[in-house]
Amino acid sequence: MSSTLYTDIATLVTNDSSLDRGLLGELSDAAFIEEGGYISWVGERAAAPHADNSVSLAGKTVLPGFVDSHAHLVFAGDRAKEFSARMSGESYSAGGIMTTVNATRTATDEELDEGIATRAMEMYRSGITTFETKSGYGLNVADELRSVKLAVQHTEDVTFLGAHVIPEEYKARPDDYVALVIGEMLEACAPYSKWIDVFCDKGAFDYDQAKAILNAGIDAGLLPRIHANQLSSSRAVELAVELDCASADHLTHLTDKESDLLAKSNTVATLLPGAEFSTRSEYPDARRLFAAGATVAIATDCNPGSSYTTSMPFCIAVAVRDMHFTIEQAIYSATMGGAQALQRDDVGLLSVGKAADFVVLDAPSYSHLAYRPGVDLISETFIAGTSIYRSNK
Ligand code: NIG
Ligand code: FE
Repeated sequence: MSSTLYTDIATLVTNDSSLDRGLLGELSDAAFIEEGGYISWVGERAAAPHADNSVSLAGKTVLPGFVDSHAHLVFAGDRAKEFSARMSGESYSAGGIMTTVNATRTATDEELDEGIATRAMEMYRSGITTFETKSGYGLNVADELRSVKLAVQHTEDVTFLGAHVIPEEYKARPDDYVALVIGEMLEACAPYSKWIDVFCDKGAFDYDQAKAILNAGIDAGLLPRIHANQLSSSRAVELAVELDCASADHLTHLTDKESDLLAKSNTVATLLPGAEFSTRSEYPDARRLFAAGATVAIATDCNPGSSYTTSMPFCIAVAVRDMHFTIEQAIYSATMGGAQALQRDDVGLLSVGKAADFVVLDAPSYSHLAYRPGVDLISETFIAGTSIYRSNK
């Protein structure tokens, strides 16, 4: 097994709290060694041991790869018209999901697979090295099953979201749809899924329905996560904490009491800046979550309705500008926070024994991710020590 020394790094963000170098565990004039896809040494350049190969990163900044803990990549079509109507004054509602469900049901497996691959490549170009993806645009047994089957070929973090909305054909008998999700659909999808999620909100599923669905998923061996408080203040946060969900996501509407509940729990508070941006909604204030002591993640929520972005740098910039994250909090939340929301301890930080998943920024400091919004600063993205994207700038 050969080893590679990456050296001449102006700033290395490790997220390693044991270094006692601030929230991001920053090292300057740093180096690290990758061996067999893992980090085998990290430290100051001058102290670097010998390695088989050496790569100079010429004064650039290196971060752990971004961990995107919330995305919906399995779908066909787009909803540009709906977005454009919103920008002219319409408001967002869960009902638009059915437009994508109809397009997804009529797409071929090849079309769906190509869509996932294209969006995954976009993610790598934005520095994401780990991503979760949900089903949720099939909403019948066959189409949910093929969604999770296709998804699991692209990521180990697949989430079964048969409970995205109640599809048109079940509108008059929602209980029958919940029974289908809990029964045949869950049985078919569980072998290809690690997580179960429910959209618990106005126009989607209420507290009791969501609780029954998440509990059925837990009984089938899946781990729970939840869409909470995007459109209204529901009881979704209470449910997240009650069921020990890994993460409660959106939190557009959030009371102080809910921030405290999350802070006292194991549930990560995941904010999705692209969703408020693209639905022109009020942004939640992350300062309240941090003040309460909650663990916070930032994710893209890439989906064709409420947040059609695969760019984590964009989400970081919006989180800093509009959700009041400090730059350090935003970077930590998009790396380590995402890993915590996926209960992964192998990614999100660069220390000995962790995956060699990292991003090289064409910038002298990580602050440029928020300071230079919309500018492509990703120079190269590595997964397990292998370059998967290199900018040709
Ligand atoms: O996370 N909130 C529910 N699901 C997606 C939106 C889905 C859609 O509009 O297609 C979200 O924002
Ligand atoms: Fe979502």
